[in-house]
Amino acid sequence: MDKKSKQPQHLAFIMDGNGRWAKQHLLPRATGHLNGVKTVQRVIDLCIEKQIPWVTLYAFSTENWGRSKMEVTALMGMLKKYLQERTPEMMEKGVRLHAIGELYMLPEDCREELAKAIETTKHNTKLNVVLALSYGSRQEITAAARSLAEQVKAGSLSPEDITPELLGQNLYTAGMPDPDLLIRTSGEMRISNYLLWQISYAEIHVTDTLWPDFDRADFEEALAAFAVRERRYGKR
Ligand code: IPE
Ligand code: IPE
Ligand code: MG
Repeated sequence: MDKKSKQPQHLAFIMDGNGRWAKQHLLPRATGHLNGVKTVQRVIDLCIEKQIPWVTLYAFSTENWGRSKMEVTALMGMLKKYLQERTPEMMEKGVRLHAIGELYMLPEDCREELAKAIETTKHNTKLNVVLALSYGSRQEITAAARSLAEQVKAGSLSPEDITPELLGQNLYTAGMPDPDLLIRTSGEMRISNYLLWQISYAEIHVTDTLWPDFDRADFEEALAAFAVRERRYGKR
């Protein structure tokens, strides 16, 4: 098998551990998140260097709305600032931005910056960066089911034409390849409502490294672990 086929084409990250990192350093949680943003930049650069065309980053879950108002406000502020400050760099590097999730839930100023960044970067082709924002997989699948049900009700779709492909086309990720490697930082062995449909056959790599500390060595370790996996897809 050639090297390329042993390299993932779509990485999905659960960027966990900013809070624990802050606690370790006796710093406020928001500072943990700020250092997490630095890792986002590092990972984007590494994906470009390794010629991995897709990366999806779990930045804020539907359930994260349940955190304190202070933390949510800090995170939304960071998102806005990130989009404002980093779009020129995305243009330089050939990064195309996408977003998945219940985006209407985001504060208006964030939504505007997000729409702007997505529009500005839409012709870039080097790396696709998908931000999962206000994202929950069950909510996503429920919305797809509702949309299909409405089409059936309107008479434009018959139930027997509902296939896995059609359902997939009704998810936020329509048109995107499925992730082939899921990486979670900070050691937790759970999925936390992330891409449940899309990761059906993804390999999973969990590292104890906290997200702000996730570096080149951790990244390369994840790729090396993937390269020796035997992917069978139910066959033998
Ligand atoms: C991940 O770090 C970032 C977000 C969920 C926004 P956490 O904030 O969950 O960090 P821990 O899990 O408390 O360490
Ligand atoms: C998952 O992390 C969500 C993001 C990384 C944005 P959480 O910290 O919210 O997940 P749980 O609470 O450990 O399941
Ligand atoms: Mg966490």
